[in-house]
Amino acid sequence: MRYKVDFLVIGSGIAGLIYALKVAPYGTVLVVTKDDAQESNTRYAQGGIAAVMYPPDTYEKHIRDTITAGAGLCDEKIVRTAITESTERIEELISWGANFDKTASGKYDLAKEGGHSESRVLHHKDNSGQEIIRTLIAQAQHHPNIQILERHFAVNLITQHHLGVIVTKKTPDVTCYGVYVLNPATNSIDTILAKCTLMATGGSGNVYVTTTNPPIATGDGVAMAYRAKAKVENMEFIQFHPTSLYNPGEYPSYLITEALRGFGGILKTIEGKEFMQKYDERKSLAPRDIVARAIDNEMKLSGEDHVFLDCRHLKKNELINHFPNIFAKCLSVGIDISKDMIPVVPAAHFSCGGIKTDEFGRTSIHYLYAAGECACTGLHGANRLASNSLLESAVFAHRASIDSIARINDISFCDDIPDWNSEGTVLNEEMVLITQTLKELQFIMTNYVGIVRSDLRLKRALDRLELIFRETEDIYEKSILTQKICELRNLINIAYIIIKAAMNRKESRGLHFSLNYPPTSS
Ligand code: FAD
Ligand code: SIN
Repeated sequence: MRYKVDFLVIGSGIAGLIYALKVAPYGTVLVVTKDDAQESNTRYAQGGIAAVMYPPDTYEKHIRDTITAGAGLCDEKIVRTAITESTERIEELISWGANFDKTASGKYDLAKEGGHSESRVLHHKDNSGQEIIRTLIAQAQHHPNIQILERHFAVNLITQHHLGVIVTKKTPDVTCYGVYVLNPATNSIDTILAKCTLMATGGSGNVYVTTTNPPIATGDGVAMAYRAKAKVENMEFIQFHPTSLYNPGEYPSYLITEALRGFGGILKTIEGKEFMQKYDERKSLAPRDIVARAIDNEMKLSGEDHVFLDCRHLKKNELINHFPNIFAKCLSVGIDISKDMIPVVPAAHFSCGGIKTDEFGRTSIHYLYAAGECACTGLHGANRLASNSLLESAVFAHRASIDSIARINDISFCDDIPDWNSEGTVLNEEMVLITQTLKELQFIMTNYVGIVRSDLRLKRALDRLELIFRETEDIYEKSILTQKICELRNLINIAYIIIKAAMNRKESRGLHFSLNYPPTSS
């Protein structure tokens, strides 16, 4: 099949859907998404979305907290833009129908999370993401210009490479003409031609064994953009959330929101002793990189696989009221959080780096925009402040829409693009080649490129990656494409980019901590 649309959106999380809603009055919009429309990292967000709503909070305080968490690598202009536009974006979500919890006085019930000097996180109980995605999908489904193509997998961006031009990192004016997508139901590859394309494919947590991310988070957008020679930045900064539920065998790991620590939950060792005072004066509410490293260290000291989060001193009815899903989930595995400590362990959670964009979501490829977790705007620097991700997605999806709308009438389709050529490929009968390689990849990343790294570990990771890269490229070239092969290939690309970026950073900063270099804070 061949589609032609004005605006192509890859991904139906918060970033993709906001952009789709904004551009829809100006042309046809196709949202391609690889699973059901609501399946995304957005859907699982618990804590909420950070924004400045009332005094005593101010934009300056939120800007300062973001920059402090970012360990000297935030782009201050981008931080100012994101934070000063936060209130407006929240008001828009509310106008579309999102319900955020309020206190008895009618004001929004703002939660506090690690690294925030004020309470500023709007939330819907402990499943804020589901509320946001429900709102956005309802709006998008009712818009006559928006078509959502579910269970279609974007394989490769279309550029002049597909017209026979050799494209390298030095090629000026690389231009995006759309994307090739796999329809897994028919095994066919469709061609989608577009004037403007937004990459909004989210994160890549599945490059690690333990992650809070759902299976869709396989770094496809960053890998596609990287192969198309877009600039990609800051990929060494992988955020490990300090507290996922320690429940061996469960995949993905269930998140225990940071808001629970904001509510008074205290981290304790396996013997039930507080330990965060040894690492930071903000204790359990220090920024995530510090807390995750502290937990990692305590686990190494004790030789155990987890620490505890203690909420037993908190009022049971308030716990159930604010965190009904966490309460129920823990109960389902035999933990009554009002009586038992919760076993927790860090898990890969968020990619601070991604496709480099400017303040309007423009990438280094013409007519290709990126927003949300797959983009690197410069907001997070070396470490993201809690609940700033949904905010970043909303602000820069909106800004990308402004730029796209301004240019759409001056862009033409490239009709010369050929359809996908799958001549000579055969069905790969051996799924074990894919599943086993994925396990090997996740093992390499978890053991050598995790919370604590070293030059030796990174070199070992790169050496081992080279072998599985060659083997997988070979399968990819000879096989009829399947989503699993493409996802594995993308994850291998992502691992390569993370390792190379980590090797190039000759210091410890924010989320990148190397035993070979002393920590840097600015
Ligand atoms: P996503 O919401 O992940 O959407 C990506 C979309 O792209 C999906 O629809 C996916 O199917 C689609 N896609 C991917 N690849 C392809 C492909 N090849 N072809 C077609 N479609 C594709 N952040 C906060 O700010 N506050 C929180 O409280 C919070 N809690 C979180 C809790 C959890 C458990 C997790 C995992 C993350 C949390 N985060 C939170 C982070 C935040 O949810 C994400 O960073 C954010 O939702 C990313 O939005 P997005 O639109 O960029 O991507
Ligand atoms: C959480 O609720 O702890 C996650 C918040 C985030 O990732 O920003």
